Amino acid sequence: KKIQIINGPNLNLLGKREPGIYGDVSFEDYLRQLRAACPQCEITYFQSNSEGELLDKIHETGFVCDGIVLNAGAYAHTSIALHDAIKAVTAPVVEVHLSNIYARETFRHHSLLSPVCQGVILGFGMDSYRLAVEALNK
Ligand code: DQA
Repeated sequence: KKIQIINGPNLNLLGKREPGIYGDVSFEDYLRQLRAACPQCEITYFQSNSEGELLDKIHETGFVCDGIVLNAGAYAHTSIALHDAIKAVTAPVVEVHLSNIYARETFRHHSLLSPVCQGVILGFGMDSYRLAVEALNK
């Protein structure tokens, strides 16, 4: 299956950003492991710090791939535009967060994306992405 992973703002800093919360592995290194663990999936990856570029990538891939794994970072808590984009496309979207957002500051407790995603996986660090890919690969 064709799975698109999309990471939002600040996730380009994975590995160096608050390692106590997000771990010390870069996403590029993790992606190598994930592709090896899931050879039957064709996994493509995109990261942007810009909301508009995330919207464009959802529009571009959301009608042609078999599923999107989306960690929208802080935009999960703020973006009605991402909510609308997820609703607009035909591919199922799994929302992912590395951290358990419900165990953190209250401003992270609400996601505008969860209601329009097929499912949500959070709190398992990088392994959250593998769980999401497996869910979409069914
Ligand atoms: C995050 C959680 C968000 O609250 C935060 O803004 C992020 C990362 C996570 O993966 O745990 O940037 O999406």
